[in-house]
Amino acid sequence: MIEIKNIRFSYENEPVLEDVSLSVKEGEFVAFLGLNGSGKTSLFKMMNALLVPDEGCVCVDNMRTDKDENVWEIRKKVGMIFQNPESQIVGTTVEEDVAFGMENIGVPRQEMIKRVDEVLNFVGLKEQKKKEPFHLSGGQKQLLCVASVLAMRPKYIIMDEPTSMIDPIGRKAILDIMKEINKKGKTILFSTHILEEIVNVERVVYLRNGKIMYDGTPLNVLKEVREEFGTSEFLEFQFELYKKGIIERFMSEEELEERLKKLANRIQRS
Ligand SMILES: Nc1ncnc2c1ncn2[C@@H]1O[C@H](COP(=O)(O)OP(=O)(O)OP(=O)(O)O)[C@@H](O)[C@H]1O
Ligand SMILES: [Mg+2]
Repeated sequence: MIEIKNIRFSYENEPVLEDVSLSVKEGEFVAFLGLNGSGKTSLFKMMNALLVPDEGCVCVDNMRTDKDENVWEIRKKVGMIFQNPESQIVGTTVEEDVAFGMENIGVPRQEMIKRVDEVLNFVGLKEQKKKEPFHLSGGQKQLLCVASVLAMRPKYIIMDEPTSMIDPIGRKAILDIMKEINKKGKTILFSTHILEEIVNVERVVYLRNGKIMYDGTPLNVLKEVREEFGTSEFLEFQFELYKKGIIERFMSEEELEERLKKLANRIQRS
C-alpha cells in the first residue's frame, strides 16, 4: 500500500501540496486529473522518494520515504515513467535499454536475457529488439519505457502523462498495455489531461491547487469537475445513458458498443 498522510510541500516559498492524504491499495488502477500546476507530478515524485514532504509522511509498504535507508527498496517497488520518453531512454539499442535498469538492480544475466524477451514481447517491440531507440515512433518509445520499467518488476507503476506526447493510435496501444498490466495485478497510477482516459479506471483523484478535491468513481468525479476541467461528447453521452439506467459506470468504446448491441437485440426481440 502507498500511504500519504497530511503532507505539505513547497518549492522555495510556493506551496505546491497542501494537506494531501491518500492511500492506494495493491491492484488499483487510478487516474489523476487536474489543471496544469495542480500538483500531480509533485505528488507522484513523493511516491518514490524523488521528493520528500516538508510535513506529514509518505509510506510505501510501511517504509517511510524520508528515511535514507529505505530509498533504494522504495525505488525498486515503485517504477516511474515520465511524460517524455526520450528523457528516459539510455540504451543504444532497444534491448540494451531494457537491460540497463535490470543491471542497476543486480538482476543475474540469464534472468536478464529472459526478461528482455518477455517484456519486449509483451509490449509488442520484439521485432525492434536490435534497433536504435532513436528510430522508434513516439508511441513505441513510450512502450519501450514501459518495458524497461516492467523488466525490473516493480509492484507499483506510476506514469506521468504517458499519452500526452503521442498520437491517438500510439495512445490506444499504451492504454491497452496499461489495462493489461493492471489485469495482471499490478497497481497503476497515471496522470492525464485527456479526460476520456478515465473510462479505463475505477478511481479518479482530482487535484486543484495542491489539494485533493475529489476522489471517487469516474462518473462521480466528472459530475463535479466538468465545469472547471471541461468534458467530452463521449462522456456526456454516457452520462445520459447512466441517467436513463442503461449503464451503471463509464465504459470504453468497445464495452459500450457491446452493451448497446445487446440492448438493441433485446428491443428487437420484444
Ligand atoms: N522544480 C520546481 N521548482 C519550482 N517550482 C516548481 C517546480 N516543479 C513544479 N513547480 C511548481 O509546482 C506547482 C505544481 O507543479 P506540478 O508539476 O506538480 O503540477 P502538475 O499538476 O503536474 O502540472 P502539469 O499538468 O502541467 O504537468 C506548479 O505551480 C509548478 O510551477
Ligand atoms: Mg505534471
